[in-house]
Amino acid sequence: MADPDTPVLELRGITKRFPGVLANDRVDFDLRRGEVHALLGENGAGKSTLMNILYGLYRPDDGEILLNGAPADFTSPHGAIAAGIGMVHQHFMLIPVMTVAENIVLAAEPRRNGVLLDTAAAERRVRELADQFKFHIDPHAKVQAITVGQQQRVEILKALYRGADILILDEPTAVLTPQEAVELFEILKRLVADGMSVIFISHKLNEVLDVADRITVLRRGEKVDTVPREGATERSLATLIATRRSAACHHAIGADYSILCSACDGPGETRVGVDRSRRENQTLSSGLSRLCRILTAASWRERCRTKGWLTPSSFVALRHWN
Ligand SMILES: Nc1ncnc2c1ncn2[C@@H]1O[C@H](COP(=O)(O)OP(=O)(O)OP(=O)(O)O)[C@@H](O)[C@H]1O
Ligand SMILES: [Mg+2]
Repeated sequence: MADPDTPVLELRGITKRFPGVLANDRVDFDLRRGEVHALLGENGAGKSTLMNILYGLYRPDDGEILLNGAPADFTSPHGAIAAGIGMVHQHFMLIPVMTVAENIVLAAEPRRNGVLLDTAAAERRVRELADQFKFHIDPHAKVQAITVGQQQRVEILKALYRGADILILDEPTAVLTPQEAVELFEILKRLVADGMSVIFISHKLNEVLDVADRITVLRRGEKVDTVPREGATERSLATLIATRRSAACHHAIGADYSILCSACDGPGETRVGVDRSRRENQTLSSGLSRLCRILTAASWRERCRTKGWLTPSSFVALRHWN
């Protein structure tokens, strides 16, 4: 019988190289039963790569994966799913013209007489799961007719339907309204109370503090630390995730703005970097005007100039849209 203290999942020394990039550098990570473990880091820190390795999408160059203490080696998502791992990507993989239930059972249909899709049984099971975890979703609704937040729940239901007990969510709140994010956190609490383990990828300090039990910080492919939520603050996390200079800028601007600046040696003018993939779902104009206000504020410019935190050739990344 498995030792109850054995983590449900351990990643040991995971290393992954892409041409010219060391995306993961000997990363250790572990997940306990019934916890939400956040994976936090700036753009490009290596969060998705690490989880894509766990989900069998990438092969690591080095390192090992242990599931309930036993070595695991996934060559495809199919293997990871069979081992009880589910992943919800930033971009959903649903078929708009099909119903919620049809999408969920697509890869694992209950058959009648071993041949036909037993739609009634599938819908029953989907409804049971949705009711159990209070997803508030209609199995008969067409995916194209439901909100993005509901589509995300369909993806989570899909993982549950296939028997996942480890759920990976890659930047799940990037597509959600604040209210939908709150509802997602409630769902996650119910899932972990039921014994599920969740890996929650994010770069938003406040939501990690809201939802996680433990937080692992990656920076430029390396694990910086794993800390309990208890005792962690936005400031302490910002210091962990950021380079020295960006942490200084974060502190200078204040947690309200949650803006991080990354030093770079770009050419002669200030450039503003915005993660394009998040544009649609964020209040871009209000975020940008806020950023412009900050950038043009004489006091801010002066402060950065005197402290040497930000020069006209610095690259500024707007990381959080509040
Ligand atoms: N398929 C790939 N081919 C080449 N380089 C890649 C590939 N996937 C990721 N990378 C690089 O590996 C590094 C880590 O990327 P990764 O997507 O894991 O970061 P992340 O922490 O998930 O960032 P984000 O917050 O932007 O999603 C980056 O430098 C990225 O450009
Ligand atoms: Mg990512």
